[in-house]
Amino acid sequence: MHEKGSPELNTLVGKLDRERLPVHVAVIMDGNGRWAERRGLPRAAGHRAGAEALREMVRFCAELGIKYLTAYAFSTENWKRPRAEVDQLMALLVEYLYRELEEMDRQGVCLRAIGRPDELPPDARKALADAVERTRDNSLIIVNLALNYGGRREIVDAMRRLGAEIKAGRVEPEKIDEHTIQAYLYTAGIPDPDLLIRPAGEHRLSNFLLWQAAYTEFLMTPVLWPDFGRLHLVQALLEYQRRERRYGGLKA
Ligand code: IPE
Ligand code: IPE
Ligand code: MG
Repeated sequence: MHEKGSPELNTLVGKLDRERLPVHVAVIMDGNGRWAERRGLPRAAGHRAGAEALREMVRFCAELGIKYLTAYAFSTENWKRPRAEVDQLMALLVEYLYRELEEMDRQGVCLRAIGRPDELPPDARKALADAVERTRDNSLIIVNLALNYGGRREIVDAMRRLGAEIKAGRVEPEKIDEHTIQAYLYTAGIPDPDLLIRPAGEHRLSNFLLWQAAYTEFLMTPVLWPDFGRLHLVQALLEYQRRERRYGGLKA
């Protein structure tokens, strides 16, 4: 990206407190359609630009030492879109995964999917499974792609599995606590997001990480996702570091 290595970026990166970086950053990759419309381009061009932005974000988070990045790529509600757009998104996903796989693997990215990838078209499922398998032992950064993901659906899936365990006599209802529920979510074993970035001027969760975002710091920005670059991320991280997280307690 053009801003990479710019003096302004380097100055801002220098201001980051490396000891207090968020462990887990989540992003809602929104605004692709508007980005394209503003340029008189088809929406698919916006999704393509959005995929580029994700690639840069993965690289930059890895360079900074962020351990988890979760990116909302396709929601359980996005199936409502015209068939042609859904098809383009799925085709782009396959293309992105195969094109980026080599480099992600070399960088040490461990790619995972959260959501219901079993309901994706077969070629998308295959591309995803290949990428997950190929990068499974990498540990520099874990990138969760939220695909066919819905926060409510995640809780439904967790309750179904937990219910089956109860029925089989392996879990006692009285022993269920927050840790038990967390362990049945798609994000089992992953710390809750510290920072959630919502671009494109929207102020809603859109069914993303409902359980996990209980104490997440939200950053809303009017910047459209395809324009969200390194500079925006560092600014978001600096804003995060200015905040005080209290978790319902009192000032430290
Ligand atoms: C986000 O961009 C991509 C997906 C939801 C798959 P949008 O396509 O929602 O872009 P806008 O909101 O129409 O600008
Ligand atoms: C959220 O964006 C989902 C993804 C970015 C994958 P949407 O564009 O679907 O959200 P709404 O419909 O504006 O809430
Ligand atoms: Mg949108």
